[in-house]
Amino acid sequence: MRISVIGCGYLGAVHAASLVELGHEVVGIDVDDRKVRALCDGRAPFYEPDFQELLAQSLISGRLTFSTDVADAAGARVHFVCVGTPQKHGEYAADLRFVQAAAESLLEVVEPGDLVVGKSTVPVGTAAGLSQMFGEKVPGTLVAWNPEFLREGFAVRDTLYPDRLVYGVPDGADGERITGVLDEVYARIVGRGVPKVVTDYATAEMVKTAANSFLATKISFINAMAELCEATGADVKQLADAIGYDDRIGRKFLNAGLGFGGGCLPKDIRAFMARAGELGADQALTFLREVDNINMRRRIRMVELAREVCDGSLLGKRVAVLGAAFKPDSDDIRDSPALNVAAQLQLQGAVVRVTDPAAIENSRREWPHLDFAETPEEAAERADAVLVLTEWKQYRALDPVEFGKHVAQKRVLDGRNALSRTAWTEAGWTYRALGRRAG
Ligand code: UDX
Repeated sequence: MRISVIGCGYLGAVHAASLVELGHEVVGIDVDDRKVRALCDGRAPFYEPDFQELLAQSLISGRLTFSTDVADAAGARVHFVCVGTPQKHGEYAADLRFVQAAAESLLEVVEPGDLVVGKSTVPVGTAAGLSQMFGEKVPGTLVAWNPEFLREGFAVRDTLYPDRLVYGVPDGADGERITGVLDEVYARIVGRGVPKVVTDYATAEMVKTAANSFLATKISFINAMAELCEATGADVKQLADAIGYDDRIGRKFLNAGLGFGGGCLPKDIRAFMARAGELGADQALTFLREVDNINMRRRIRMVELAREVCDGSLLGKRVAVLGAAFKPDSDDIRDSPALNVAAQLQLQGAVVRVTDPAAIENSRREWPHLDFAETPEEAAERADAVLVLTEWKQYRALDPVEFGKHVAQKRVLDGRNALSRTAWTEAGWTYRALGRRAG
């Protein structure tokens, strides 16, 4: 099938290449000329395991092209909208400018019978609005909402092997037709028996925000427990293990630490609250405000902990920050807890050096006043404290004995509860972590 993908960021670029892998002919459209040129040359514009290889293979097949001109999407039967929906400046609500622009540009190319499929995370009600717009301007155009649940760092795997498919479709014959077309698009996935939920637009839109709200709540729940552990001397890691053995709870997403960041969870829970307010149902989501508060408090606590281990003052103290990306296996620094802490430490007078295996370039662009080092050893040279704020495997694998030779003071703050407390304390380090007793 000939398919177009509008928006070639994390979601769109991976989706486009994956659709080729699933047997289709795909054109990816993006307004960013630099991104399109990189993709055409087979260069991934972001760090994402396995994507580079998938992109190269898809280009070689001759069934994947990229363009800045939406006219190149003409002739496709299905058009996926994969543009970003960032948080509006100064407000909680989602900025739908890019979705609107993508839809309007598609008006130039869609023909009656074509299917427009939204994948972006949008406030409930968006799909119905777009369906009405297409219905008025190009009668016969079909609209579906098909949310995407990919995690950065696992984007290729999550796209090719999703744990469920959700189709938001209109009632009646159109809904059945759309379901048929989407089944054809995802034939290989559907054929594996992956669970499929066919529902209305509003439910499909809400599935995504509800899922992200649940995940954020789970993380903030364990981080609230970490606060209590700090007050009582209990150990949050063992607590998470123990409650996680209960199947109904599960151990996943119970890793206490610096909390969630990135381009999805923070802005999605805020947009969800804003939309609930518009709908007069804000009370239903007031708990998400607390989820957000708990999350942000962890960053402040981390800075306090750093001050505590640096004998009560950060002024002039050399602090190494290991990790800048919002999570490992990503170069994404959007709302990165690690960089947020690094900047606060610097503002309070510390001499901060940040390192990261993949995100230094992005970090330097967004945070030019911070100082960066290529390696953990370089960042830690003569440091008074080392903070591990993103749990890259390279940092988890550090040898505390060897690493200790670089620092002025052997003090480590494990912001992600990712290091072996025993190994570090045995090597003579003062070990501190959120939600755990000092080691
Ligand atoms: C998330 C959702 O998981 C995904 O389904 C959705 O499509 C997009 O948003 P992503 O933002 O890539 O994906 O990252 P995720 O793995 O969910 O982690 C989000 C944040 O939570 C990271 O900052 C991570 O460090 C943090 N986190 C995660 C924790 O602090 N503790 C945990 O136990 C898990």
